[in-house]
Parts: sequence; structure tokens; C-alpha cells
Amino acid sequence: MAQPARLAPRAHLFTRASCLLSKPRPRASRQLELSSSLQQNNARRHISAYGYTQSKALVYSKYGEPQDVLQLHGHSISPPSGTQVVLRFLTCPINPADVNQIQGVYPSKPEMNTMLGTSEAAAVAGNEGVAEVISTGSGVKSVQKGDWVIMKSTGMGTWCTHKAVDESQLLKIDDKEGLTPLQVGTVSVNPCTAYRMLLDFGKWNFRGDEWFIQNGANSGVGRAAIQLGREWNFKSINVIRGRDDKAEEDKLKNELYDLGATHVITEEELMGKEIRDKIKEWTRGGREQIKVGLNCVGGKPGTAMAKYLSSEASMITYGAMSKKPLELPASLLIFKNLNFTGFWVSKWSDKHSDQKKQTVDDILRMTRQGKFKDIPVQECKWDRDTSVDTLRSAVQGTLGGFRAGKGVFVFGET
Ligand SMILES: NC(=O)c1ccc[n+]([C@@H]2O[C@H](COP(=O)([O-])OP(=O)(O)OC[C@H]3O[C@@H](n4cnc5c(N)ncnc54)[C@H](OP(=O)(O)O)[C@@H]3O)[C@@H](O)[C@H]2O)c1
Repeated sequence: MAQPARLAPRAHLFTRASCLLSKPRPRASRQLELSSSLQQNNARRHISAYGYTQSKALVYSKYGEPQDVLQLHGHSISPPSGTQVVLRFLTCPINPADVNQIQGVYPSKPEMNTMLGTSEAAAVAGNEGVAEVISTGSGVKSVQKGDWVIMKSTGMGTWCTHKAVDESQLLKIDDKEGLTPLQVGTVSVNPCTAYRMLLDFGKWNFRGDEWFIQNGANSGVGRAAIQLGREWNFKSINVIRGRDDKAEEDKLKNELYDLGATHVITEEELMGKEIRDKIKEWTRGGREQIKVGLNCVGGKPGTAMAKYLSSEASMITYGAMSKKPLELPASLLIFKNLNFTGFWVSKWSDKHSDQKKQTVDDILRMTRQGKFKDIPVQECKWDRDTSVDTLRSAVQGTLGGFRAGKGVFVFGET
């Protein structure tokens, strides 16, 4: 994906934060009409002669289904001062947690306020993405115009065309050469989660005779884990949900083999009778240990997976896509002394910002070397005139399952 072209300045339109587009107030709608006519005259301009930047953000002021609560809000960003930086977003993924957050069922709740000029207190949705620095305040030291940055932590509201933030909230991508906005915009949640879970919870010797097992193996996290496993010499058993169309299922399995999976099986196969002997054979009668289990599904497939872990192994739960609880037989705790634990990348990044930078840098190094492949995506192009309905429906489908790829906002002419 080519790096988007720089945009030229345009005559200033809004002097103040404007409107919730779906419920325009009279003054705001006049501004909007003026905005549209000028946009037609010069579609590539977004910064005024006075340095104001026009932004649009997907906001919500109450919890609910994305299609019911997301609004597209236009507002104006003043020229940055002090340590402030103005960003133009390039790519933002739509992750399951983003939707859970909008639904109000996610533990971290974003602060809702009227700072962007919304009529009701609102939060900007989205937690991840890559942006380009378009202007900086006079006190900014860590980044400059043209740099690519990602957010230091989650909860900052990334689904917007432009944003003003303090430089302290940003992680600069030191070397963007050879990287695409998709790769950088999706690095900090899924690949970091896979990286930390594999590395921090397994007692590895890296000799090539160790295993991990995971469900949701075709998810963003799962694909990252497979590729990291290949890099670190871990063999993997990867569980996916079967497809009604067997050709489709084989295609998916082959995609994961191409990434470096050692074995790919369906949930049905995992819960069947024959798998026990197969896993015994694959692990040379258990002499090669399955040291880590990564669980983002729960329910029966989660329980079945736990039974194949070796003694003293760790099973890390990081998601609950089946929405079913994980039931564990007492024997796994008593006789195998398994360690059942959880991981949350948001908490981890807040606590370990230095380690986050190292992790991101290492994954991007592998990406540059071609060792980390792009995830399959369903792109939603976000231009200045993209309708709120288009954006909402890209978000709404996220939790549907059996998707061809992760939803990603790709910003064009904004
Ligand atoms: N704890 C953390 O820090 C952390 C960080 C990142 C992600 N996560 C969690 O990890 C999970 C995967 O996230 P992602 O962004 O990698 O996902 P993703 O790329 O959007 O893919 C979604 C995955 O979930 C599976 N899935 C959907 N509905 C399911 C169901 N009802 N039962 C079983 N599997 C189902 C999909 O399988 P199909 O293709 O078969 O539908 C696919 O593998 C999510 O639960 C997410 O919240 C947690």
C-alpha cells in the first residue's frame, strides 16, 4: 500500500467545533453546506490558512450496537501549541474489543466529554491505528512532520480522520521504510498480544522440540502466534472452526500452513476420539511437551484444548469469542498442575511502555524481513465524503464470525 500523498492547505471553514452530523444544529448545518461546496472545489485541502484542521470522528454518547449509536462528528482542530501534535490517520483496524467497548460490555470504558463540540458527552471509538504527524507545537521534541506514530496505550479514540494529542501519548515508528500503513496500524494489539503471551508464559528452551496449542488460530492474534512460533522454533497445533464448505476449510488450513503452522485441526477434530493418538504421535509420545495453550474461544473447545497440555504448562485466556465459560476438570489442576491465567494487552502496555516499544520494533523488524505476513482484511475506505452508514456497517459486522478478513478503515482523501 503506497504512503498517502501529503495534502495541501485550504481556506479555513469552521471556526469552532461543529456538529453531530446525524442531528445537525442550524449553525452547524450551514457550516456543513459551506464545507461541502468548498470541498468540491478543492478536494485535497484540509488545513485552513490559519492552521485549523478539519476532522471527522466516529463518536458515541451511549452504549449499544454500533449501527445504532455511532455518529460521524465533524469538528475543527486548532493549530498545535506546546507539546501538542496534530495527526492524520492512515489505517485503523476494527477489533472485536472495539465493538465490545461500544456495546458497553468491555471493562475499560472511555471517558465521554464534549471537548470535540458534540451536543452530548461523547467518546471517539477505536483503540488502534497508525497516523502521520501533520503539524507540531513549538515544544514538541520526539516527533516531526511526516513521522508515523501509533498510540502508546489503548482507549485514546482512533477512529477519526485527524486528532490532536500530546506527544507523550505517542510511540514513534523509528523506521517506517519498507512498511505499509496496514502493517503498522495493526501491530500494537494482536501481534503484541501473541508475542507477549508466547514469550512471557512459556518455559522455553528454543531447541525446536516444544509445542503450543491455540484456538481461534485464524484470528489476528492466532496468525501472529503461528508466525512467531515459526520464528522462535515452536511447533504449533492450531484449532479453527470448521466450514460447511470443505474446500473453503482446506483453503483456510492451507493459509495457516503457509504461515508456519505445524498442524491445523477443526474444533470438531479436537473434540473427536482420534485426535488423542495423533497428538501423541506428533509429540513423540509426549516427550515433546505442549507448554502453552492460547485460548480466545472458551466453552467446550477451550476445555478440550486444556486436556492436551503437558504437566506444568500454562493456558492463557485472552478472549471469549464463543461467549461460553471455560469449564476445567479438577484433575488438570491437581495432577498436572496446569497454570490457568489471563492476559490483557491494554493493561500490559500501560504498565510496560518501554517493553511495548521493543515488542513493536521487533515485530516490525520481522515484518520488514518478510517473516510476518499481512492479515487478510476487508477494507473500508474512509474519505472526506464517506457516509456514516458505510462506516457503521463496517463496524457492525465485526463479531459476526466466519469472516473473510478483519475490518480495517483505510483513510484516503481526508
Ligand atoms: N486480551 C487481550 O489483550 C486481547 C488482545 C487482542 C485480541 N483479544 C481477543 O482475541 C480474540 C481474537 O481477536 P482478533 O482481533 O485476533 O480477532 P479477529 O482477527 O477479528 O478474528 C476473530 C476470530 O474469532 C473467531 N470467532 C468469531 N466468533 C466465534 C465464535 N462464536 N466461536 C469461536 N470463535 C469465533 C473467528 O473464527 P471464525 O473465522 O471461525 O469466525 C476468528 O478466529 C477476541 O476475543 C479479542 O477480543 C484479546
